[in-house]
Amino acid sequence: MFRLDATDPDSKARAGTLTTAHTEIETPVFMPVGTQGSVKTLHPRELKDELGAKIILGNTYHLWLRPGTDIIKKMGGLHGFADWPNALLTDSGGFQVWSLAKLRKISEKGVTFQSHLDGSKLELTPETSMEIQSILGSDIAMLFDECPPYPCERVYAEESTALTSRWAARCKQWVEENRASTGPQQHFGIVQGSCYPDLRERSAKDLVDLDFDGYAIGGVSVGEPEKEMFAAIDNAEPFLPKEKPRYAMGLGTPTQILEMIARGVDMFDCVHPTRSARHGLAFTADGPIHIKNLKYADDPRPLTPDCHPHLAGFSRAYLRHLFKAGEILALRLLSFHNLDFYLRLTRDARKAIAAGEYTAFREDFTARYQAKAK
Ligand code: GUN
Repeated sequence: MFRLDATDPDSKARAGTLTTAHTEIETPVFMPVGTQGSVKTLHPRELKDELGAKIILGNTYHLWLRPGTDIIKKMGGLHGFADWPNALLTDSGGFQVWSLAKLRKISEKGVTFQSHLDGSKLELTPETSMEIQSILGSDIAMLFDECPPYPCERVYAEESTALTSRWAARCKQWVEENRASTGPQQHFGIVQGSCYPDLRERSAKDLVDLDFDGYAIGGVSVGEPEKEMFAAIDNAEPFLPKEKPRYAMGLGTPTQILEMIARGVDMFDCVHPTRSARHGLAFTADGPIHIKNLKYADDPRPLTPDCHPHLAGFSRAYLRHLFKAGEILALRLLSFHNLDFYLRLTRDARKAIAAGEYTAFREDFTARYQAKAK
């Protein structure tokens, strides 16, 4: 299901092809986030045809609470419900319970919590998470894990990492007993272990022993310094099989993504491009710019000289005006632009890996990106 097409001679960067039920995905790949079954402000056709997105994310927690699995099942799963023809990856829900729900309580069985929408009391377990994801019909389902906070005491991290491994075994068992309903769905384990190298190793080995279709590195971008984030990747990566895809969850900035590709990661998702777009931040090769800034009020240039044709006709002055006037088009255009930037970044990274020039590509991009935006 995953084929390595090229490896970089000077780093751990890889170019691969991941085959899923709905489409083939060339890696490294960026996956736009569509938490509620919608990548905010964008039409699926824009995502697929104009931006070339092969895979987007959905979320078990949000979709289970609203509209619920009965409705999504009737509408043909999340693909049918959202009219998304390419691949879907769903997160397993535990991480979102932690960031959104109230009165959370964790036990061996799973997590009980109060819905952030109507206060109802609910329980998510490894088995229910896998069942919900099988109904959503995602191409890739994530295992149910616990993401410890940062910083995290050693004792808590040890217990949490062991719990994630036991939950992974229960997810695996549920999948094996329900193959008829999961069909071609793939399942990715999530390496935890906080900032402790031996726990990252233990977690990776436990998951690899259970044998999943791919492996994610979780518990990163939870408030730790960037150095720790990269260390978390480095401490897990050597124990992950080369012939399976690796996914860094919830990351990152453009330069962080290029760093992580060099460290052997193939897949990324992050709300950064779409969320920051809605605040008027646009990515360019010379670093991000705040389009609402007064200096763009009469700037006739497009956002970037090599802008997507969809945006090439719009001046920075017009985009700033749309933001100032509170026009919805402002949010749409910047979201489109930022996703184009991220999707192109990973596509360009792939080309550079295939050409054996990844290190030069990453260094050139980073030097220019970090020089002050004009
Ligand atoms: N999204 C970002 N980080 C994580 C994580 O550690 N676990 C899960 N399930 N989702 C995430």
